[in-house]
Amino acid sequence: MIILVLSKECVYNITKVYMTKTISFHLQKGGVGKTTISGTLACQSAIDGHSTLLIDVDPQGNASSWFLQEAPVYELADVIQGKCYSMDAIVPVTQIPNLYMLPTFGIGGTLKNYAETKLAEEPFVLQDLVHDLASRFERIILDLSPGLGRLERAALIASDEIISPMTPEVFSLDGLEIFIEELAKLQKNLHSKVEHSRIIINSFDNRIKQHRDIFQAASKGKFIVYKIPVDPLFRKAQEAGSAPQLFKNRSKGLKPNTLEAINIINLEIWR
Ligand SMILES: Nc1ncnc2c1ncn2[C@@H]1O[C@H](COP(=O)(O)OP(=O)(O)O)[C@@H](O)[C@H]1O
Ligand SMILES: [Mg+2]
Repeated sequence: MIILVLSKECVYNITKVYMTKTISFHLQKGGVGKTTISGTLACQSAIDGHSTLLIDVDPQGNASSWFLQEAPVYELADVIQGKCYSMDAIVPVTQIPNLYMLPTFGIGGTLKNYAETKLAEEPFVLQDLVHDLASRFERIILDLSPGLGRLERAALIASDEIISPMTPEVFSLDGLEIFIEELAKLQKNLHSKVEHSRIIINSFDNRIKQHRDIFQAASKGKFIVYKIPVDPLFRKAQEAGSAPQLFKNRSKGLKPNTLEAINIINLEIWR
């Protein structure tokens, strides 16, 4: 007689079937809020009860140092080089139930080196990884580095959707145009159907005419355009290693209009 004993977790994993969606936040510019927005929306998704994985695809590892207080054992580069299983490298974010991270070591990590040497032979390595993880997580968010090299391209084609954060500056719309052109080439060459229909104008200040003008100009195109206000609490929460939604500085949290913006974006992007 064979007695099969299944743990609760095992049964849970077998019965849970997710229609997983993977979103990358990307524009080939630094400092536009990619990490802030991807991290904040990952927190919001997890706070709402969805099993959410944030993958740090930036060799600088900013998202990892934001959310992880202790140095993890393995990183993303170890997984894609077959040095460990993905579930060995994924760690829970302790302060936020339902949020998990696949980290990258900013110091001493090997992701940059891997991207420069071996990634050319394996452009679909992140796509394969995301497919494998889709049975375990309901929502996957990728935080990317600036630029549009092999690593970023591999991450973009691993996604169902790319959302471009930008700051309301004079050259930002040019940057978006360049990204659209490059993405079209990538989609054609690698037969990718990744969606790119939303932009987020970050650090928006309604009192500044230039910000309003850039929002108007951006809204004339084919994109759905969101705004996230300038809010100093983001940086404070990052310094404290906290979710911006849960963090208080001298008993003050994010501004109500920042919270509203996050809620609207969060509700719309996962539909
Ligand atoms: N809406 C915002 N209001 C105020 N500061 C912000 C906002 N978004 C991002 N920042 C700050 O801007 C800096 C750059 O943001 P970051 O997310 O690291 O950009 P990226 O990942 O695109 O390089 C960080 O110090 C972050 O705290
Ligand atoms: Mg970043």
